[in-house]
Amino acid sequence: MSFVIAIDGPAASGKGTLARRLAAHYGLPHLDTGLLYRATACALIEEGLPLDDVEAAVEAARGLSLTDFDETRLRSREMGEGASLVGAMPPVRAALIDLQRGFAARPEGAVLDGRDIGTVICPDATVKIFVTASAETRAQRRALELAARGEEVDFSAILEDVRKRDARDSERSAAPLKAAADAVTLDTSELDREQAFAAALAIAERGR
Ligand code: C5P
Repeated sequence: MSFVIAIDGPAASGKGTLARRLAAHYGLPHLDTGLLYRATACALIEEGLPLDDVEAAVEAARGLSLTDFDETRLRSREMGEGASLVGAMPPVRAALIDLQRGFAARPEGAVLDGRDIGTVICPDATVKIFVTASAETRAQRRALELAARGEEVDFSAILEDVRKRDARDSERSAAPLKAAADAVTLDTSELDREQAFAAALAIAERGR
């Protein structure tokens, strides 16, 4: 059977880094599904369309290809906010299901990270990890990340963003952010990168 690792969690919980490292460790392909929502929002913004245009968002989502992401542009705060808006639209989520499941169905397996991988996209994943951390810890990490990209950083604005995004992602009716019943929760608030990776690896090994 192929080895599929599903990693979910809120914004800046560290799930992306853990997903990348687990993928490298096991030699598996990795899909950061947040990029799909970010790229959908980006397409609307670039065409000058409002982010609440559901039809245009669905069309943009359907037209995505995994190979042409400009990650530098997609990782900005603006695209994160936009992603959270288009991600709340059920038809946009539906339009992105096949792409994600197709990726997860690779014969060798795959690592996917997002908000609904263990609950909706890959309910049969071999290993499910739900990564969390306090809002303050996550805001601090995001601030460091944005500063490293040369963006101007206002910590209280970022904390506010994190809280707003948490609320929107958890309270939406379409695939809300929540741990799958069979996911193992990993709280990284008190862990450094190496400790978090060791803990995630231990969970993956136990579930393998
Ligand atoms: O993980 P990332 O910060 O890139 O995600 C950006 C936004 O995209 C999230 O706040 C969420 O609203 C949306 N998203 C989602 N489902 C996923 C991945 C991301 O709704 N699987």
